[in-house]
Amino acid sequence: MRRLNLALAERSYPILIGGGLLSRGDLIVPFLRTARVALVSNTNVAPLYLDIVVKALEKVGVGVTPIILPDGEAHKNWESLNLIYDALLANRCDRGTTIVALGGGVIGDLAGFAAATYQRGVPFVQIPTTLLSQVDSSVGGKTGINHPRGKNMVGAFWQPKLVLADTDTLKTLPDRELSAGMAEVIKYGLIRDLPFLGWLEANMKGLLARDGELLAHAIERSCANKAEVVAADEYETAAVGGRALLNLGHTFGHAIETGMGYGEWLHGEAVAAGMMMAVELSRRLGWLSVADVDRVRAVLQRANLPVKGADLGAARYLELMSHDKKVIAGSLRLVLLKALGDAVTYADAPREEIVAAIESCCRE
Ligand code: NAD
Ligand code: GLY
Repeated sequence: MRRLNLALAERSYPILIGGGLLSRGDLIVPFLRTARVALVSNTNVAPLYLDIVVKALEKVGVGVTPIILPDGEAHKNWESLNLIYDALLANRCDRGTTIVALGGGVIGDLAGFAAATYQRGVPFVQIPTTLLSQVDSSVGGKTGINHPRGKNMVGAFWQPKLVLADTDTLKTLPDRELSAGMAEVIKYGLIRDLPFLGWLEANMKGLLARDGELLAHAIERSCANKAEVVAADEYETAAVGGRALLNLGHTFGHAIETGMGYGEWLHGEAVAAGMMMAVELSRRLGWLSVADVDRVRAVLQRANLPVKGADLGAARYLELMSHDKKVIAGSLRLVLLKALGDAVTYADAPREEIVAAIESCCRE
């Protein structure tokens, strides 16, 4: 088992990565306030893994209330959140109850927001089961739901007490979802870890073939990068750089997800196309070479990710991007690359260059 720590003073927590962790109730117990858990999952993941976790917790004396939500990004909304509150109340869950998320990023974000708000906050544990959630969404405490006008527009920062990433769960993940998770893995290489980008280029074939050791290394390195960034800027308030850098490609990507309708493009797919737009814009600003852009395109394609954007039209992109959470006083801050492995936040990209980057990535 690999073990990392997210250092946030009294709210620090471990990230445990390895095979067979779902059946290790003993790893979870020390992080519970009382021997009571509400286990939130969905109709897709529950038949695969719920019983294993319930049995593991019952074996160590923990009572479990399962809460099963409909599956998919289209259900990351108020209705699903209310289903969680309804079940918590119907089962008389109190402030000692820990909410445990068992699933991908959608379940993690929903369950985390429920934990942040139920009775003004209850403890929370993440058991991520997709590559994307194991390398990104389960770590760092961002929780929330989508609004029809924008992705993740309603939410809260609420750190988990523990992240338990069982790499065995990736064996049942569809190929398309594995690739979507790889977009966020590649992101860490692009924003701050150039040696990791080289390692990913060399090992992409084995990663997509689900070599356990390679996947565990990629997850550990991704979480280590994320933990460092979050520890330095937990609430994303740094005036420049900081946690916002984790959003490379996301402003463009969120526009694709919202513009196409939630669930049409997977989050990681939209991020991949969005990263191409950010990289192309960085080239137009004179920071990256054509060879750099080609290198990014090649690694994304090797991960079976889209590099061409959704054909929404640049005006619609800009409209959707104007709702981005990085907009401050009307000024849109984009995450761009000064060089591969060196990301910056930048508010001064000329509008015509942003339009040109979008259009060029929707044409290719
Ligand atoms: P997801 O949660 O929708 O999971 C993808 C699909 O895989 C779903 O159908 C799910 O049921 C299924 N699944 C999950 N685990 C499985 C398994 N082991 N075997 C088979 N099927 C499995 O999507 P995701 O890619 O995990 O997460 C995307 C979400 O995460 C988006 O809503 C995004 O906004 C959010 N996100 C949040 C953060 C954050 O910091 N909080 C960061 C990145 C992304
Ligand atoms: N996924 C971006 C963040 O956690 O800040």
